[in-house]
Amino acid sequence: MDFKGKVALITGGGNGIGKAAAMSFAGRGAKVVVVDRDGAAAEAVAGAIRQQGGDAKATMADVTKSAEVQAYVKAALDAYGRIDCFFNNAGIEGKVAHTADYDEAMFDQVLNVNVKGVFLGLRHVLPVMIKQKSGAVVNTASVAGLVGTPGMPAYVASKHAVIGLTKTAAGEVGPMGVRVNAVCPGPVETRMTQDIAKQLRPDDPASVVAAYRMVIPTGRYATAQEIADVVLFLCSDLAGNISGAQWVVDGGRTAVGGAMTQAVRG
Ligand SMILES: NC(=O)c1ccc[n+]([C@@H]2O[C@H](COP(=O)([O-])OP(=O)(O)OC[C@H]3O[C@@H](n4cnc5c(N)ncnc54)[C@H](O)[C@@H]3O)[C@@H](O)[C@H]2O)c1
Repeated sequence: MDFKGKVALITGGGNGIGKAAAMSFAGRGAKVVVVDRDGAAAEAVAGAIRQQGGDAKATMADVTKSAEVQAYVKAALDAYGRIDCFFNNAGIEGKVAHTADYDEAMFDQVLNVNVKGVFLGLRHVLPVMIKQKSGAVVNTASVAGLVGTPGMPAYVASKHAVIGLTKTAAGEVGPMGVRVNAVCPGPVETRMTQDIAKQLRPDDPASVVAAYRMVIPTGRYATAQEIADVVLFLCSDLAGNISGAQWVVDGGRTAVGGAMTQAVRG
């Protein structure tokens, strides 16, 4: 997977999965634009890339604001003249509560970042790629885009929507040389899963992780790097005929019944 001469644009690139992808793209030769609403985090990642001899720029933007999305696209074009890979990744988990109790404002907030943010990214990056007649997009969905998760109605709805956006865009831009895929991580070792565990069991978040690991056939969470590796693959020429697909990286969790996994594990 060689990205020399390629430009990678990454939202939510200041932390977690986005940061791992930014570092990996840079490590394989790409020029990287790191976008995050946390400007200091984005700057730190771009700085780390430059320190390792790479080429990177940081841009502070909130992906829910059309003007800021247009600004990060312009920043990428002004800096590097093209966008070859777009990792449309920024997302939030929201609060954990059952649908019968879920706060309406929180529902709007989660859909705004996870769905509108992804839509706006597509809306403003795809025209660039269509003009280039090339490009690869990976949207971050989740296994929560494939199955339900009690207590996370907004998040689950948002990630199902990301898969719908992915399939639709793939159908539209395939003939123009542009590919669009989704990555569907199961639980990953990042701030997000720590927060969810703390919300579920403030007194003992480690027990949530232990219980969840019991229903994952591989017995562990993914690392951010393992998600980044799939994102790079999907953006690479090795994946030249893959589009509209959802790539699950969950240690087998959604492939098999959780109860059986737990029973076999003993
Ligand atoms: N961690 C997991 O277990 C897991 C599993 C499946 C999917 N995902 C998805 O992966 C993506 C990355 O999650 P992560 O675990 O790395 O989380 P994270 O919280 O570590 O990183 C998310 C980054 O996105 C940024 N961000 C959030 N809202 C933003 C906005 N409105 N505008 C710009 N930037 C914004 C944050 O500042 C942060 O830097 C998300 O879309 C998440 O839903 C995570």
